[in-house]
Amino acid sequence: MTALAVRLATAADAPLLAAMNRHLIEDQRHHSTATTADLEARMRRWIAGDQYAVALVERDGLSVAYAVWRDDEDGIYVRQFFLSRDHRREGLGRAGFAVLLDSWDDKPIKLDALVHNERGLAFWRALGFRDYSLILSLDRPGSDDGRQLDRRDRDLSGTEDGDGATGDARAMA
Ligand SMILES: CC(C)(COP(=O)(O)OP(=O)(O)OC[C@H]1O[C@@H](n2cnc3c(N)ncnc32)[C@H](O)[C@@H]1OP(=O)(O)O)[C@@H](O)C(=O)NCCC(=O)NCCS
Repeated sequence: MTALAVRLATAADAPLLAAMNRHLIEDQRHHSTATTADLEARMRRWIAGDQYAVALVERDGLSVAYAVWRDDEDGIYVRQFFLSRDHRREGLGRAGFAVLLDSWDDKPIKLDALVHNERGLAFWRALGFRDYSLILSLDRPGSDDGRQLDRRDRDLSGTEDGDGATGDARAMA
């Protein structure tokens, strides 16, 4: 396999990252009401700010994956990891994440996954991740059938929510 390279994203990458984020939302059947414009604006904030790091994984100059993470006191919190639909089951997700792991030294890694995202869970478990905590959710009458913005989407408006037991109470979207 051609070697993969990881590079930090720039503002010019925001449209591509937003399109990939849209696919990530669809693929994990996340109840997000965010528009692609929202996602692009959020990517721009993450890229420009110091809270999250955003990186693209490239093969032969082509972006095949991206990741969004935060370097917390207790380790790395991976908020998003996505491998392009055209390149799945070629080992690129595993290889791309391995390159990221190298860049994070030996820091422990945490992430959240939606329980119905069986492919994502199978992937993380194949990489050695083990179940650590479970986030519970209760849909309420008038909550638009659960499709309201959830905690993860709040920072579309730039508001960071608090840390939970996992180091961050959000699943990836
Ligand atoms: C999850 C994802 C990153 C996997 O990327 P990938 O490049 O296809 O994964 P790899 O080819 O490196 O697979 C590594 C291992 O993960 C597991 N795996 C990956 N996809 C799987 C699937 N669809 N079903 C079952 N196991 C799977 C397998 O154990 C696989 O090893 P194997 O191919 O030797 O059997 C990719 O499908 C993706 O981006 N999905 C949408 C976004 C997402 O769900 N991200 C995770 C959010 S929690």
